Amino acid sequence: MDAPDAWTGLFISFEGGDGAGKSTQIRRLAEVLRAEGREVVLTREPGGSDGAEAIRKLILEGAADRWSPLSEALLMYAAREDHLERTIMPALARGAVVITDRFADSTMAYQGLAGSLGEETVTALYDLVVRDRGPDVTIILDIPVEVGLERSGNRGGAEQRFESKGAAYQDAVRRAFLEIARREPERCLVIDATGDEEAVAARLHAGLAERLPGLFSA
Ligand code: TYD
Repeated sequence: MDAPDAWTGLFISFEGGDGAGKSTQIRRLAEVLRAEGREVVLTREPGGSDGAEAIRKLILEGAADRWSPLSEALLMYAAREDHLERTIMPALARGAVVITDRFADSTMAYQGLAGSLGEETVTALYDLVVRDRGPDVTIILDIPVEVGLERSGNRGGAEQRFESKGAAYQDAVRRAFLEIARREPERCLVIDATGDEEAVAARLHAGLAERLPGLFSA
């Protein structure tokens, strides 16, 4: 794992608010890359390893005020460390393409910029845990909050802590992702996620092909 030439994999994260269509687009991208013979590891946050999935339950279930903002961010980062160690880094070392449904930008957007924690604290956690292990490319699927909430509907189930927070918060999250993209244009690719699945997939394909020449053979 220490040899520099072992880092041949590609790390892609997807970000966006509720109902942006991340899971659909991730599945489609994985199919395209697998058809080209690449090993693709699909994963998600919070979660993506046994320990991180156990932490996910603590984070997403229960009352909205179950955790203080700092406890919540620390749980996200405890899960992220396990996810990086057990799932992401080993897969990258094998040369796989790792695609994660959410990563560190979600903590910056939800807890740091839209939430009450503030960006300095989240940046400190990032520097402690992620360091130089962040994504090569981050896709931000951007959609107006009303459209996203309508699409996602009420998904029910136990994991509702974050979906009960209201449209103003969701709008702040959207603006936070756009701000992150503005600050890091080399890493982030903002894709208009309105319209049908095919249209979004076409925009995503074009954006990635331009950003990563050689990713797709055609
Ligand atoms: P999930 O059911 O995976 O939703 P989605 O389909 O929107 O990704 O729930 C993840 C929720 O957790 C989502 O509302 C965003 C939130 N979240 C944070 O607030 N901070 C984080 O660092 C991460 C990874 C997720």
